[in-house]
Amino acid sequence: MAQREAGLFRLLGTSAVYQAFQDALGAEAFRRRLAAWIDAAPGQRVLDIGCGPAAILAHLPEGIEYHGFDDSADYIAAARARWGERGHFWQARVEEATLADLGAFDRVIAIGVLHHLDDGPAATLVALAARALAPGGMLLTYDPCWAADQGALARALVARDRGQNVRDAHGYAQLARHSFAEVEPALVRGHLRVPYTACVLRCRAEASSHREVSPPRVPSSTSPR
Ligand SMILES: C[S@@+](CC[C@H](N)C(=O)[O-])C[C@H]1O[C@@H](n2cnc3c(N)ncnc32)[C@H](O)[C@@H]1O
Repeated sequence: MAQREAGLFRLLGTSAVYQAFQDALGAEAFRRRLAAWIDAAPGQRVLDIGCGPAAILAHLPEGIEYHGFDDSADYIAAARARWGERGHFWQARVEEATLADLGAFDRVIAIGVLHHLDDGPAATLVALAARALAPGGMLLTYDPCWAADQGALARALVARDRGQNVRDAHGYAQLARHSFAEVEPALVRGHLRVPYTACVLRCRAEASSHREVSPPRVPSSTSPR
């Protein structure tokens, strides 16, 4: 995983510091919005890749079957302490073997994960997500993003992220082009207390279980909505 680990960045690996930092940025309000995009219904199965302390769970409906994976022991301990029986929390990296016996999911989410990964591992993760989805399911990712028209402060903040693989919206969409026929990137701004630019990627699995992966339909425009 390509990320900065020196000084203050190391502290962010501690669950309490990470959550306090996110709260200060106003991430909690934005998670509510993200949850609306995730659009999970009671009875559905949700896989959260790189779940961290699983803060998104506060905004997902009761009655979903939630599986959160993270290789950080501290984050998983914090998730278990906060959520107990509301989810299944696995201290593991998501890999082919990790998901083998878990069955199909209606939603796969990876919030703040892809920008920590080089292109190869990031595309592999997206491919794993595609295989884990039930027909008609959706992968949603969220990551900091470059944009041609972003302000200097937003650009400076994005540049200081722990993750070393921030992309533009097209770059994130490209990661999914071999795994999904339908890939929809959207720029997000004004969602935190500081100027920031992020990309939400929504990738849909075909409704039929016999998926033929055709060339991706990646919008050429990356303008905000
Ligand atoms: C920036 S944190 C995001 C945490 C959480 N999703 C949130 O929104 O607060 C990224 C997390 O992804 C985890 N991660 C990266 N690649 C992973 C993989 N293949 N499997 C499981 N966790 C992974 C890291 O351990 C890290 O905790």
